[in-house]
Amino acid sequence: MRTSCSFSAPGKAILFGEHAVVYGEPALAIPLPQLRANALIRRLSQPLTVMTADLQREPWGWKPDVCDWQDPISLMTALTLDHLQVSEIKGEVVIRSAIPIASGLRSGAAVSTVLGRAIAGLADSEISNAALNRLVFEVEKLHHGTPSGIDNVTVVYESPVYFVKDRPLQLVEVRLPLHLIVADTGIAALTRDAVDHVRELYRAMPKQIGSVFRRIGTIVDDARNRIGSGDNVGLGELMKENHRLLQTLAVSCPELDTLVEAALDGGALGAKLSGGGRGGNIVAVVDERSCESVKARLIRAGAKRVIGSRIGVRSGQDDHIN
Ligand code: MEV
Repeated sequence: MRTSCSFSAPGKAILFGEHAVVYGEPALAIPLPQLRANALIRRLSQPLTVMTADLQREPWGWKPDVCDWQDPISLMTALTLDHLQVSEIKGEVVIRSAIPIASGLRSGAAVSTVLGRAIAGLADSEISNAALNRLVFEVEKLHHGTPSGIDNVTVVYESPVYFVKDRPLQLVEVRLPLHLIVADTGIAALTRDAVDHVRELYRAMPKQIGSVFRRIGTIVDDARNRIGSGDNVGLGELMKENHRLLQTLAVSCPELDTLVEAALDGGALGAKLSGGGRGGNIVAVVDERSCESVKARLIRAGAKRVIGSRIGVRSGQDDHIN
């Protein structure tokens, strides 16, 4: 038994289908392996402590029979111990996360994922991805009320996914390497607020908003086929349309629109906001040659961080951060 070891989980970006996925439409998402949360465990003789310096929280100590159901760390710990049928846990978990908070890249899901894995490690037990995914989904409800489940699935399985709520998970095959750029407005925005706003809009105008959701769903299916056939140009066009539809849902903002335009001006095949919106990140699909010019353009337009990600056929992902 090792006295210390570490666990890790990535951030994620939604390529197509955010918001509509909450209402049963499909969505496509990818993990961002270069932005990660890590948990280091140490076996100690005192009751479990969880340190989360990057999340601006005080160290948290586990107390048997006490769970703060509104606190993600407390809830994830209680759910994991319950799942493992472990009543007492000792040791230390130190979580570090490079995933920006409230940026749409799912820092929360990655932290819950590494915490679940770390607790299983301290308990000398294993937790399957399927079980972990169910637990992280419960904690996601704290972060944004009515999550579809796409964020936790992408983070836990660390694979590109085609996702429909309450349906079995489908991993996506990529025919031609896909070069993506994710660029951050630097504006913190809570997914919960954006999801609540879209719900209100849908309540007020069910017919119009319902048809926007359905069109987004059609785009997602079309995008999946184009990823499968290697049509990255067609994929770019679909991204542009998906962004326009998200604008009609009023989840974009001037800063996101500026970055989308900058990416297109720089030669991207397509670009759109990614995640809840109202801040956070955009994602752009580019051909390899225009990668650097698009990144430079995004930085000039005010992007606070630009990440390049290559989703390969067999090579997996090969990534770099500026
Ligand atoms: C957030 O990453 C994606 C949303 O569609 C919410 C969800 O699917 O739970 C906005």
